[in-house]
Amino acid sequence: AKNDIHAWRRHRSYTYQRNPLLFRRMSQACRDRLVRTPTVIAMCGLPARGKTYISKKLARYLQWIGIKTKVFNVGEYRRDAVKFYADKDFFDPDNTEAVAVRNLCAQQALEDMCNYLAYDGEVAIFDATNTTRERRQNIYEYCTQTFCFRVFFVESICDSSEIIESNIREVKSKSPDYKDVTAEEAVSDFLSRIQQYERRYETINDKSERNYSFIKIFNCGERFLVHKIGGHMQSRVVYFLMNIHILPRTIYLTRHGESTLNQQYRLGGDPPLSTNGKLFAEALAEYMANENIPDLIVWTSQMQRCVQTAAKINAPKEQWKALNEINAGICEGLTYMEMAERFSDELAARDQSKFYYRYPGGESYQDLVARLEPVIMELERAENVLVICHQAVARCILGYFLNKDADDLPYTEVPLHTIIKLTPVAYGCLMECIPLPVEAVNTHRNKPTNCRRNRTVQDAVDEFLIERDTKPVARTKSEIFYNSSGTKIKTTHIDGSRLPRSDS
Ligand code: ATP
Ligand code: F6P
Repeated sequence: AKNDIHAWRRHRSYTYQRNPLLFRRMSQACRDRLVRTPTVIAMCGLPARGKTYISKKLARYLQWIGIKTKVFNVGEYRRDAVKFYADKDFFDPDNTEAVAVRNLCAQQALEDMCNYLAYDGEVAIFDATNTTRERRQNIYEYCTQTFCFRVFFVESICDSSEIIESNIREVKSKSPDYKDVTAEEAVSDFLSRIQQYERRYETINDKSERNYSFIKIFNCGERFLVHKIGGHMQSRVVYFLMNIHILPRTIYLTRHGESTLNQQYRLGGDPPLSTNGKLFAEALAEYMANENIPDLIVWTSQMQRCVQTAAKINAPKEQWKALNEINAGICEGLTYMEMAERFSDELAARDQSKFYYRYPGGESYQDLVARLEPVIMELERAENVLVICHQAVARCILGYFLNKDADDLPYTEVPLHTIIKLTPVAYGCLMECIPLPVEAVNTHRNKPTNCRRNRTVQDAVDEFLIERDTKPVARTKSEIFYNSSGTKIKTTHIDGSRLPRSDS
């Protein structure tokens, strides 16, 4: 380990010499940003302890609440550097050649990470084992002294052989390291890899490493040890980590049934269900009864269209004000067409930047995300839940689970009378769309091709008319696709009949 450290330090000073200008600029960038000091979250723990899972999930949450976050996974650097993974001997701490390669990969990832934070990011997650005190000391010194970043360690400790075996079988044996070997060989090699790490593993020591800020998570959240939290960001991270769990469960998400104002294409208000909306409420209750979900709870907004949609479902219900639809302020009760005529500048401003646009006297999508944060936190704590909400609210919730960025989130298609089933898997979540066969209007409006502020009212109205003229299509088969974050998305059609306008 001593040799490791010297090699690391030599490499660090070499980097200084190689690009002193870059380092000066980075330090300046740090000083300029003292108010919101960037944070490094450094993972720690033996292999198969959920470090990557936690990193990805935390990054998704932080991105969703508007904090620029990126994960730097040292395993990926190692796979880039060493194209052909041989076996667990690569992780033997006495294999000096391999140790040198691993150190270089870690250093490269660390530099890239600090570069990202110096110029752009607010939080970076350093996803590696970091199982020795020396390794942690280097990360700490590099991030706090070369740069002025805060460092927070997250150590995952798990001694349940059942959880570890399941992690290896479900996730690790499918890693690119094992693409050409059987599952059994992969499991056996991975267990040996863990043993190699155990030979040098030093858990974070709350005496000799007491100046660090850290959290230790024992057995997937059975117990926590939190030490020296430094600032608002770290306390948010701790709060999130203390709420997540890995129990299998399903989240069902749907909009309310069609309302009388939906039929007129009007925004907002608190209208009752239309005749089709009532049929959907019945179909939904029947669907949920057939699914026979243990301990299901139903959350609705406080608006009557949601409460009426939930009425016939045989499960405990809770109403959340936070699930109410986006407040359209002065545009409440208008159609998009009326908005184009009466408030053309407002509609143009919204079309230019829909996520950030706030209706006068109302809310933006960004406001909605802030309002929904407690709902997301509670969803993380909960098990099987059906959430009955509204178009913009459902988009924000899906944005969280599907890792959507601010540009895409407000344009996500969430048709009426469609149940969206979200099942967390390994590093993401499986999404299945189930349109129930009850007709409904289409309330989706695509991003217009012409978003210029000086477009004429007629331009805006024409564009909307073209959309409204588009007919629904019949689809007869299931569709499965993966989105950019690796989420598997499946659409299932109950009877292959005409869809309730899932396409515009
Ligand atoms: P490696 O060091 O090989 O990269 P890792 O620690 O990053 O391993 P992951 O790839 O994240 O391990 O393992 C994923 C699995 O870990 C998932 O199946 C997830 O359910 C499980 N998991 C999530 N959180 C924890 C935890 N706190 N302790 C143990 N397992 C967890
Ligand atoms: O063993 C798991 C792993 O994620 C490897 O894929 C990766 O090369 C390594 O951990 C990174 O951590 P370390 O700092 O121990 O080299």
